[in-house]
Amino acid sequence: MRAVLILAALAAPAPADAEEAARALIARHGCGTCHVIPGVPGADGRTGPPLDAMARQVYVAGVIPNTLEGLARFIADPQEVDPLSAMPDLGLSPEEARRLAVYLHAAGER
Ligand code: HEC
Repeated sequence: MRAVLILAALAAPAPADAEEAARALIARHGCGTCHVIPGVPGADGRTGPPLDAMARQVYVAGVIPNTLEGLARFIADPQEVDPLSAMPDLGLSPEEARRLAVYLHAAGER
């Protein structure tokens, strides 16, 4: 039983690690060249909307409800959600997109 609990704790990254991993993904994919993103130095782009209040937004890109799943779905494949979206498909895996969705839902609320 104890071994199972330890394994579960190892599988889920601590919040600080998850944030660090999200920031690394944001840097690697250049999200900050187009977006203002809280907690990410240099993320001050204005091509896309600022992502500083995603927790309070009702819709993602104005088209689907802003749930964790909806946000991750848009980040992973914007044109699947809205074929006319100008947001590029950056080739993120579903896991990476979900990690960014968790980060963005927490960012700006600090
Ligand atoms: C080349 C510029 C560009 C890059 C790079 C880019 N985006 Fe976007 N993004 C946009 C544009 C333009 C929109 C608005 C499109 C729309 O609403 O359909 C957008 C919309 C969004 C939205 C919806 C915002 C809202 O107000 O609903 C999210 C979330 C988002 N982007 C996240 C990301 C993430 C995460 C990355 C990096 C993995 C990224 N973007 C990289 C241009 C970009």
